[in-house]
Amino acid sequence: MATSHVFVTRQIFPEALDMIAKEAELEVWPDEYPPTPEQLRKKLASVDAVLTTVMDRMDRAAMDAAPRLKIISQLAVGLDNVDVAEATRRGILVGHTPGVLAKATADLTFALLMAAARRVSEGDRWVRNGQWQLAFHPMRWLGMDVHDATLGIVGLGQIGLEVAKRARGFDMTLLYHSRTRSPQVENQYGLKYAELPALLATSDFVSLHVPLTPQTRHYIGQRELRMMKPNAILINVSRGPVVDSKALYTALSEGWIRGAALDVTDPEPILADDPLLKLDNLVITPHVGSATVASRRATCLLAARNLVAGLKGQRLESCANPELYQTRGSQPGSGTAQE
Ligand code: GLV
Repeated sequence: MATSHVFVTRQIFPEALDMIAKEAELEVWPDEYPPTPEQLRKKLASVDAVLTTVMDRMDRAAMDAAPRLKIISQLAVGLDNVDVAEATRRGILVGHTPGVLAKATADLTFALLMAAARRVSEGDRWVRNGQWQLAFHPMRWLGMDVHDATLGIVGLGQIGLEVAKRARGFDMTLLYHSRTRSPQVENQYGLKYAELPALLATSDFVSLHVPLTPQTRHYIGQRELRMMKPNAILINVSRGPVVDSKALYTALSEGWIRGAALDVTDPEPILADDPLLKLDNLVITPHVGSATVASRRATCLLAARNLVAGLKGQRLESCANPELYQTRGSQPGSGTAQE
């Protein structure tokens, strides 16, 4: 059998690369910065499989440049950079990495929620700037209670559910809004379903966990921010464009809401002169939701296992287009456009 060729678009954990190198001829993009779309297209010209990150746009043009491509293995759960429908049409399997990163991302959600509630980054900046002159004042640095507060979870996938579990330890009242309702999960975790306007109007913290799709772009805009309580805090660890950042700036600077915490921005990276960065009531981290040693290693290994399984003609452990396995008469991963 001819040797397969694989392109990995960033440096990842070496054990994951070793796994791929046992099965295929492997090329890894060596730079810190990801390949440009043009560089990516060049690399795709001769490969059977590609391991991508959220920075790589796998659109129709990329697939047009990849006549042999059978597998896209994404190192993330979110797939907004991959045109999954187009891949499916061409018989290209798409793998991704749910599960292994849900707990780490929920941990970071809580870190952001608490940092915003208790003004952690703001206080840190203040102390380092030499502004801590007055040892203690009863009326300074007051934040928001996390315990006993109401948390509204928007999108109850694996990450949303992990956030709910953590919130129970803080005796929070839990609301959620999701495409599908799950009475069993509601009972098990004490969650109450709410329509989005009701959730926004009653939550002290609103945490976003929806995938980015055409329907969720600017899901939280001016209208939604206006519905939130003036003391509420918005947390976004999903994708930047889920929130309209201009509207968020207005909401934060005019006090429609108390604060926000973002691990994702629009664009990414956020521009150095973005007005949001001037605001003290914003906590921000650089898209590190799942960035722990153990979770990232597990994510790299899952992405590698997905890719290798695809090369071997086996079922991907986590496949975003499993319908390809059902398509009668077509061999998943054949990579042939069905036009
Ligand atoms: C990271 O952003 C992911 O989607 O897993």
